Amino acid sequence: MTTETKLLRSEQEVEAYGIRLGREARPGQVIALTGDLGAGKTTLTKAIARGLGISETVTSPTFTIVKEYRSGRLPLFHFDVYRIGDVEEMYELGYEEYFFGDGVCVVEWADLIDELIPEDALRISIAYGQNEEERIYTCTY
Ligand SMILES: Nc1ncnc2c1ncn2[C@@H]1O[C@H](COP(=O)(O)OP(=O)(O)O)[C@@H](O)[C@H]1O
Ligand SMILES: [Mg+2]
Repeated sequence: MTTETKLLRSEQEVEAYGIRLGREARPGQVIALTGDLGAGKTTLTKAIARGLGISETVTSPTFTIVKEYRSGRLPLFHFDVYRIGDVEEMYELGYEEYFFGDGVCVVEWADLIDELIPEDALRISIAYGQNEEERIYTCTY
């Protein structure tokens, strides 16, 4: 396992990084995002979608747990598990079909379902930096 720390100085740098992740994403990849409200999990997800060539507008799936986007190079399954009461709910929605399927899964608040995140996932923990736009990414893969 490798851990890297990255300093992202602006929202533009975050977008560029997300677009690259989307371009390089492979089928079955899980990207697990952790970080406080406003850290930029949804912002990064939107950029990943752009990198995948998704033309639909990506919005936060807070009330649905998962949203699917199929207009890009690979399907994107965007999870936001913030409101999940119990890990059991993930089984009820058939998360395995998503996590071990041929699309790309991005999970916001992944720490809440940590036990379900596959070993080979890319984990990104987002912390605030020195100013409003700066973010510190700790990436483990
Ligand atoms: N470097 C940055 N990365 C991501 N978002 C940033 C950055 N700098 C400022 N922002 C702002 O912070 C907010 C992040 O919100 P959002 O992506 O919805 O966070 P989360 O999904 O983690 O709650 C947005 O309003 C965005 O414009
Ligand atoms: Mg969000």
